[in-house]
Amino acid sequence: MNNFTFQNPTKLIFGSGTIAKLTKEIPLDKKIMITFGSGSVKQNGVYEQVKEALKGHNAIEFWGIEPNPTVETLRKAVAIGKEQGIDFLLAVGGGSVLDGTKLISSAIPFNGDAWELVLNPLLIKYMIPLASVLTLPATGSEMNRGAVISNHAIHEKRAFYSSHPQFSILDPLVTFSLPEYQVACGIADTFVHVVEQYLTTPGQSLLMDRWSESILQTLVEIAPKIKADPHNYDLMSQFMLCATMALNGFTAMGVTQDWATHMIGHEITALHGLTHGHTLAIILPGTMSIMKNQKWDKILQLGERVFKILNGDEALRVEQTIIETEQFFRSLGLETKLHEVGIGEETILKIKNRFLKEETVLGEAQNIDGNITEQILRQVL
Ligand code: NZQ
Ligand code: ZN
Repeated sequence: MNNFTFQNPTKLIFGSGTIAKLTKEIPLDKKIMITFGSGSVKQNGVYEQVKEALKGHNAIEFWGIEPNPTVETLRKAVAIGKEQGIDFLLAVGGGSVLDGTKLISSAIPFNGDAWELVLNPLLIKYMIPLASVLTLPATGSEMNRGAVISNHAIHEKRAFYSSHPQFSILDPLVTFSLPEYQVACGIADTFVHVVEQYLTTPGQSLLMDRWSESILQTLVEIAPKIKADPHNYDLMSQFMLCATMALNGFTAMGVTQDWATHMIGHEITALHGLTHGHTLAIILPGTMSIMKNQKWDKILQLGERVFKILNGDEALRVEQTIIETEQFFRSLGLETKLHEVGIGEETILKIKNRFLKEETVLGEAQNIDGNITEQILRQVL
């Protein structure tokens, strides 16, 4: 096991009716900016619950943080935050609203442009405290300090590190208004978060392996049930907690991590706007196929412990596990080939050339360069 430091300060407040707890969680002397997406919270009652809980507080609203939040939009919130002396941020929405709010939190006390912080998080010296009411289980942003920000002007999407939310409220009832596609993408995202931290070097941590497998097993078990019954409180609770636990550091202690599938996925989103979880469902089977020799033992373990693939020689079981993984994504209703979502050769070459130009290397062994990325993308063309 590798050395590690673990700290996760986010307080989780979980369950039906918990949005009302905002009243006591945010001190009355704070000047709050509440951040939102494009309006789903007005249709599902979340907005009214937040307003009711904060009716005695001093709060302004910022609307319009889009999926794959852009620095262009966030700069506007930063300017208002500076002008109004905001000293607490409450993100109400999915991962995009939360991520965008993390950048606002770091950029209000910063004198330069927000994009500089994305490129160089070491410039972050102060952060406005932030908290969240999560409406979409997927990213884990509610309990991690990561954020992914897009820059429309230059077609880039980059991950950076800011602050953990002080607290996050997770009420599974708010997921009932999610479109089926967003639920599918959220399950795929959660699955791949675990895989990025698990399908790497064998024999590093028995505990992390089993912890990861328990999340994967739970997802495989509940996914078809959620598809059949998306308004089932217990099932959505299970999913919501899986999503948080998949990317809050609890499965990453002392183990190497991959993240190649994510980095390639971010390129696809930056170029085509395809939803994050969907990009991962397409790319992961390609990463597994092209990197199978390096990931051999872990693919076998995934097959055995999650998909119950026990028969046949090793090569057959490895192939079967890759097929089962792809089938899992297809069972969610997601396409798993680039051509099925209208993406072709030109995009593959763009991503390859960009990685080669920037000397990008990805994966647990830092050996996935532009050329291997091309192979991965061709595998799923
Ligand atoms: O804008 P609104 O009106 O809120 O609508 C959203 C949006 O259109 C809608 N939605 C959210 N909750 C809803 C709802 N619709 C009905 N009912 C609800 N309860 O869903 C749409 C997508 O929302 P978005 O926030 O974009 O989705 P998600 O949570 O999947 O976030 C994706 C973003 O997170 C980044 C992704 O790259 C992407 O930019 N990620 C962040 C990570 C992190 N912070 O650690 C890690 C992830 O790997 C990921 O990269
Ligand atoms: Zn993700």
